[in-house]
Amino acid sequence: MTTQREEFGSRIGFILAAAGSAVGIGNLVGFPVKAAQNGGGAFLLIYALFVFFICMPVMYAEMALGRHTRKDPLGAYNKISGRDGKWRIAGILSIITPFMIAVFYTVITVWIFGYLVQALMGNLDKLAEPETFGSFLTDNSLFGYMVGVALIVMAILAGGVKGGIERAAKVMMPALLVMLIGMVIYVLTLDNAMAGVRYYLIPDFSKISVKVISDALSQAFFSLSLGMGILITYGSYLSKKDNIPSSAKFVAITDTFVAFSAGLMILPAIFSIYPDTVGAELSGSSITMIFSFLPKIFLAMQVSIGYFGASIVAVIFFLLVFFAAITSLVSIIEVPVASVMDEKGYSRKKSLQVMVIALGVFSVLATMSFGMVDWLTNFVEYSGKDQSFFQVIYDVFYDTILPLNGLLVCLFVMFRWKKANLNKALAEGNEGYEGSWLEKYVDVALSTFVPVILVVIFSLTVMRIFFDYNPF
Ligand code: PHE
Repeated sequence: MTTQREEFGSRIGFILAAAGSAVGIGNLVGFPVKAAQNGGGAFLLIYALFVFFICMPVMYAEMALGRHTRKDPLGAYNKISGRDGKWRIAGILSIITPFMIAVFYTVITVWIFGYLVQALMGNLDKLAEPETFGSFLTDNSLFGYMVGVALIVMAILAGGVKGGIERAAKVMMPALLVMLIGMVIYVLTLDNAMAGVRYYLIPDFSKISVKVISDALSQAFFSLSLGMGILITYGSYLSKKDNIPSSAKFVAITDTFVAFSAGLMILPAIFSIYPDTVGAELSGSSITMIFSFLPKIFLAMQVSIGYFGASIVAVIFFLLVFFAAITSLVSIIEVPVASVMDEKGYSRKKSLQVMVIALGVFSVLATMSFGMVDWLTNFVEYSGKDQSFFQVIYDVFYDTILPLNGLLVCLFVMFRWKKANLNKALAEGNEGYEGSWLEKYVDVALSTFVPVILVVIFSLTVMRIFFDYNPF
């Protein structure tokens, strides 16, 4: 007996859910930091070209694959390849990858939740102290925050596709956009804000190198939630009437708009407090930026708006990032949940319970790898130093396997499923697609330069991370 597959209730519901997945910590913090460090407007331009010319065809392919098979990623690979052994590995990677990325994303979401709660409790002054983040990383309160995040994610996913994922996205995404736009407007009124805008937008093409280009592509790829099986899974909840190319375009535009706006929020805020900021001060990672630098900036705003006002700004910021993180986390956890449901025939509730327990165990281990437990902190050695359990997950799954999964999707869709089938699937719900220029472009892109570029990125990353070798 087959039960009816769950579906999104509306086109806008799907777009918001997919955009909710795409808009995440990567957009709000990762993107502005990278853009500011790597040539401002020049980076932005390259990034936007990558989103629309390279990532979008992969988005189409993932969504079409999901909708056509109406399966989780492993099921999708199995169904089309007839369980051909060669593609098994792609299927398995497409489940392990989201699981492991969910682990590292959970750890960061838990930190954000902790900072949100602390800012709400009026402890901004404490958050702004330089030692706070370091001691927070080994504080037992993290496990309490983790339970909080787990309960929120479970409450959403237990509601299913329409009553959970879509409903949460319909509340959180508009709220996120309103908070973001409000913050941008406020920040732009601050003294010296324009210096930040200039720093962010004026292109400096001399900073563009092979490494910057490859970083921009990885960022775009990650930001659009590609290579994680998410869009295959969300695509499997689409009806044949939905127009995939047009929905994907909306998702990409929203994602890029949020990333761009996040820069307009963060850089002017920094410059208004430190008018003489130069690149060097922005050189830390995005993590240092959110947890150490920004609380200091918010606290400094008390001179003009008082401690209460500064706390409100901090609360809005962390709430904004938290919403972005939760909708992404939900999307990535849905992948293994859907896989267990589809492959093992478990109910949603049972599958969710199994997954939350498994994820909980790994996330606790990853959380403890920041100094709480020695063997997890110095988990393995490569690239000349000891790496933590968290770092290994990040390096292996986020940095290395993501482009590989993207490559496998392209090859699978074009050479196993075949382009005629892809085109037919994309034309469902979009009559003008067949024979269009877009169709021709997508066919050429996915069978030639997109896979080549992904191979190059994958190889460069492996050399850089595991062999400490950078040819450029
Ligand atoms: N697109 C998300 C971001 O930019 C990345 C992500 C999505 C991570 C889903 C995990 C799960 O942050």
